[in-house]
Amino acid sequence: MLLSVNGVRLAYSDSGTGSPTLLLVHGFPLNRSMWDPQLGALRQHARVVAPDLRGFGASEAGPPGPLTMDQHADDLAGLLDALGLHEPVVYCGLSMGGYVGFAFWRRHRARVRALVLADTRATPDTPEGRQVRLEMAKAAERLGSPQPAIHGMLPRMFSPSLRAGSVPEHLVLGMMRGSSPRAVADGQRGLADRPDGVPLLETIDVPVLVVVGEHDAITPPAESRLMLERLPNARLVVLDQVGHMANLEDPAAFNAAVLEFLAQLG
Ligand code: MLT
Repeated sequence: MLLSVNGVRLAYSDSGTGSPTLLLVHGFPLNRSMWDPQLGALRQHARVVAPDLRGFGASEAGPPGPLTMDQHADDLAGLLDALGLHEPVVYCGLSMGGYVGFAFWRRHRARVRALVLADTRATPDTPEGRQVRLEMAKAAERLGSPQPAIHGMLPRMFSPSLRAGSVPEHLVLGMMRGSSPRAVADGQRGLADRPDGVPLLETIDVPVLVVVGEHDAITPPAESRLMLERLPNARLVVLDQVGHMANLEDPAAFNAAVLEFLAQLG
């Protein structure tokens, strides 16, 4: 389905019934199909809305320039408005989806009933990390291909024990190959520009579930523990034997953690 929001057409799925609505926000450079292993289980208990952020998946990109976390957050608020969803939602973001979650909290906190922060971090990039992003952006533009993202990121997205060519790897590779060079370039520039989310943590007074794969090499468990120390109302679930794409590597454990959290919200 497509809806016009803030001048771009955003693709999204909307299934299930029940309250509160669960908003699933994907990572970089991926799209909403990363949530396919969640939809069947979660929509039995909640209405589940999963958008493609602007520039990714089947959503339009809008004007050229960095795809900022603030813009994505405003798009999500606009999408909820367009769907007539005015009740606060349970916001669930993985990795970049979590970074967007901090912007969503900063700009639209009245719309947040609770947060799931999966395989993400509040800290900004180091100067070196920022440089890597800007170089990947240039390389994607120069080659006219998402290949630099595949080369730089895919090997770090899963636990070391996952065999090459496994279903999760195949899914992520497909999403990355389907990303436009512009999504990689403008996406990385937007990620590099994101502000430090650490000072925000103590203001997040809604319930938060922090989930992380034990072997997450991109947003390691230490980042989740740092968030837990500062969040006033959070619990941490570390998923054994999985990496950054915890929801794909162990969907059953990921879904169980989210469903238990939803049940506790009442
Ligand atoms: C993601 O999975 O969204 C990205 O790896 C996040 C990042 O590059 O920091």
